[in-house]
Amino acid sequence: MEEKLMRAVQYSRYGGGPSGLEHVEVPIPTPNKDEILVKVEAASLNPFDWKVQKGILWPLFPSKFPQIPGNDVAGEVIKVGPGVKKFKAGDKVVAMITPGIGGGLAEYAVSKESLTVARPPEVSAAHGAPLPVAGLTAHQAVTESAGVNLDGSGKHKNILIIAASGGVGHYAVQLAKLGNTHVTATCGARNMEIVKSLGADEVLDYKTPDGAALRSPSGRKYDVVIYCAAGIPWSTFEPNLSENGKVIDITPVPTALFGYALRMLSKKKLVPMLLKPKGENLDFLVNLVREGKLKTIIDSKYPLSKAEDAWTKSIEGHATGKIIVEP
Ligand SMILES: NC(=O)c1ccc[n+]([C@@H]2O[C@H](COP(=O)([O-])OP(=O)(O)OC[C@H]3O[C@@H](n4cnc5c(N)ncnc54)[C@H](OP(=O)(O)O)[C@@H]3O)[C@@H](O)[C@H]2O)c1
Repeated sequence: MEEKLMRAVQYSRYGGGPSGLEHVEVPIPTPNKDEILVKVEAASLNPFDWKVQKGILWPLFPSKFPQIPGNDVAGEVIKVGPGVKKFKAGDKVVAMITPGIGGGLAEYAVSKESLTVARPPEVSAAHGAPLPVAGLTAHQAVTESAGVNLDGSGKHKNILIIAASGGVGHYAVQLAKLGNTHVTATCGARNMEIVKSLGADEVLDYKTPDGAALRSPSGRKYDVVIYCAAGIPWSTFEPNLSENGKVIDITPVPTALFGYALRMLSKKKLVPMLLKPKGENLDFLVNLVREGKLKTIIDSKYPLSKAEDAWTKSIEGHATGKIIVEP
């Protein structure tokens, strides 16, 4: 029987940036036992996507070439594997596609049931698609790493969120404010009003001397820093931390291993964080969006036919919120 084809974007080797992406027609994937075939309505890009293409995460990712990138999708269930219990054809969902396997930049993608959640009508595909990677990373940083209870119970904390205008940062500000926290945020001048509107108590332009020094306008010391950028030395963090303050580094690099080890021994800590995705947390985030307690800021939308423009935008590193690709 003739296989049905779909449009997809893929790359076949490391490097090449946007010009390494190829528009292809490939067979629609078949879901295995615990998998779901989703007709993609929106996918969202993450720096992870082009970092994998660059070979930064070699030899872990990608698992194979050619690689259809994209881990964040929202869409409609078309077909389920024989072991799938919670979903049926026609259900609207948000799903995280297994990192390294990828598949989001296509008309159809396959996700595991465990990382697929129902999407209520109040949550559009474009507003739901970015929740898996950026939303779950922000959630893990704020809850598990920073120890903030999102119901507002627990000890008051002063939190600094660096790159609060980015995909992870804009969710982190909102989640931290659901807890009992004071949030200082850094971003570029053009995004200060947006970041304030997300609930940040004070906002610093990172290009000013005070912003570059991470100095709280109200003189606060930070109990936790959620560090969503790169290139800031420990000597800048250290004087701004409270006695037992810690910096959660969501962009850990192997060259920083010595720094993490050294800081493990001191009161003020530098802690690497890698996303451990959990379906229950994704469900929680989708419901926050439904209730109007969490917003996705959309930087820009591109059709799949212009995926290389979306790729370029992500590589440039100046998105405000999330970049969406629509088949
Ligand atoms: N550990 C994990 O599992 C995990 C998970 C997700 C993401 N990450 C990593 O986390 C990082 C952030 O991801 P993302 O999706 O949030 O990136 P993103 O959306 O591409 O971030 C772009 C934003 O960051 C701002 N920015 C850049 N440098 C800044 C600085 N020094 N101070 C203040 N703002 C700054 C930019 O503002 P301007 O335009 O004004 O410069 C822009 O608005 C990436 O390196 C990503 O790979 C790691």
